[in-house]
Amino acid sequence: METEIKLTKLASCAGCGAKVGAGTLVKLLDGFKSHSDPRLIVGYDKSDDASVYVINDDTAIIQTTDFFPPIADDPYLYGQIAAANALSDVYAMGGEPKLALNIMCITDAMPKEAVREILRGGYDKAYEAGAIITGGHTISGSEPIYGLAVTGFVHPSKVLTNSGARPGDVLILTKPLGIGILTTAAKAGLVDEPTLKKVYAQMRELNKYSRDIAIKYEIHSCTDVTGFSLLGHSYEMAEGSGVTIHISIPDVPYHKEAWEPASMGFIPAGAYRNREYAEAGVKVAGNADRAMLDILFDPQTSGGLLLAVAEKDAAACLKELKDSIPAASIIGYVTNRLDDPIILET
Ligand code: CO
Ligand code: CO
Ligand code: CO
Repeated sequence: METEIKLTKLASCAGCGAKVGAGTLVKLLDGFKSHSDPRLIVGYDKSDDASVYVINDDTAIIQTTDFFPPIADDPYLYGQIAAANALSDVYAMGGEPKLALNIMCITDAMPKEAVREILRGGYDKAYEAGAIITGGHTISGSEPIYGLAVTGFVHPSKVLTNSGARPGDVLILTKPLGIGILTTAAKAGLVDEPTLKKVYAQMRELNKYSRDIAIKYEIHSCTDVTGFSLLGHSYEMAEGSGVTIHISIPDVPYHKEAWEPASMGFIPAGAYRNREYAEAGVKVAGNADRAMLDILFDPQTSGGLLLAVAEKDAAACLKELKDSIPAASIIGYVTNRLDDPIILET
């Protein structure tokens, strides 16, 4: 449905593009005192998708939150995308979301019906995920915000982190890139309706389906590709795992429609932050187009899973993924640590 106000016009940057850069966060948290707890097996020091706390031999709890300003004008769609994106960090840890809390900021310019539709989008996605929204917190402010704080569960021995990649692993990415560029260009009216529809459909797609398939195979590492871009999240995986990640540029799935706006300079601010954060760790073997590098540094909203799969399982895992998620692709592989954390093959 359409409302009279354009939600994205109320926002200064779109979706996960609003995320503060990883380098900035590390500095902000530097030197804080915190208790250590052997049951906290993934904490903020790991720059992972969510924290994980072991309750007993069979159960660990996963906690995460994500929220952002409108990425779409349709409030129902925005609610769905924000919820799918927040739930994703639980899937990225290999878990299943169970409980969620709404996090919301509304502005005076927003009609009640639009607020209701955002929430309905969130409830529908939580329902699809098998999770329950049990409450939340709403404030009024100058810019709309919506998202969820999510609690999920996972078996302590089945936790997937972004620091477990091993030499020999094959990398699979489950959603095409270019979301940040296309949503930025859309604000200037430069993206046609069918392309936007495709992009929105992708963003509201839960990573549940790729997670449910992936966990049947030997997965050593996983993260979802969101605000820090493919290269930013790959960089964290490479650093955390002490390996080098090789990405074959021609194999990376992306929306072809993002190429032109990228060449024209419709790059979200987050892409520059991502470049600043990870560029020093990226070696380009050969010549890569500037537009393609921008796509690789493009912040994704509700992006796909990046999986490091044991080589023996990679073909079967990809085949099963492709049955329901056709864009899923093998984009590279992992080796022992070389001079650079990331090598882009052209
Ligand atoms: Co994440
Ligand atoms: Co995260
Ligand atoms: Co997140």
